[in-house]
Amino acid sequence: MIEFYNVSLNIDGKKILQNVSFRLFKGEFAYIVGPSGAGKSTILKLIYMDIFPDQGMVIVNNYSSAKIRRHEIPYLRRELGVVFQDFKLLPDRNVYENVAFALRATGGKPREIRHRVVRMLNEVNLSQQRSMLPEKISGGEKQRVAIARAIINDPFIVLADEPTGNLDARTSREIMEIFERINRKGTAILMATHDQSLIEQYPHRVIKIEEGRIVSE
Ligand SMILES: Nc1ncnc2c1ncn2[C@@H]1O[C@H](COP(=O)(O)OP(=O)(O)O)[C@@H](O)[C@H]1O
Ligand SMILES: [Mg+2]
Repeated sequence: MIEFYNVSLNIDGKKILQNVSFRLFKGEFAYIVGPSGAGKSTILKLIYMDIFPDQGMVIVNNYSSAKIRRHEIPYLRRELGVVFQDFKLLPDRNVYENVAFALRATGGKPREIRHRVVRMLNEVNLSQQRSMLPEKISGGEKQRVAIARAIINDPFIVLADEPTGNLDARTSREIMEIFERINRKGTAILMATHDQSLIEQYPHRVIKIEEGRIVSE
């Protein structure tokens, strides 16, 4: 579960978030929407504890922004999957290695790792591309690699920051279908977007923010 309690954040004297409170339960699918600069990415960064609130508290499962210690942050992040607009793949590693890398970071036997990565690539329909470098595959394929990497450690939630921002409408729907499938299997999804038509096609809870405040739920 994720909880924001009256979270406020200032950067260089500018109010980035003001009194943001919401809860997201296990298995939920929710969008964070709002214009560019509203604070969507900031909310996601607070969840993976890249940044911390000035006031209030962020709780992610058993971790609290008020109490977590620096060495615990990698453990928190293993409970989350994160997907970005610009994919953030390792450019010098092929599709298989990009996914295996995330799993190896947490240990496990080579044979188990192999089985798991192969199954995951199959799940996002990338088996054919397993030996290709990121520069050789399409944007939609890159995002599917990023999703496979994000879910390989069985996170309870996937945080997606405008995951379809660089993709055309048809490819965006393919990505949404994958999120829907992941969500049906029980993984929560929190997705920042300003693509209104995707929200209409795949309706879920909408948390709307403007200028750092939640303006509607
Ligand atoms: N590192 C930073 N330093 C200064 N301002 C920042 C920083 N990160 C974000 N901001 C500001 O915080 C506000 C919210 O940013 P962001 O969360 O990225 O918005 P969104 O993702 O909704 O477009 C913006 O006004 C942005 O300029
Ligand atoms: Mg953003």
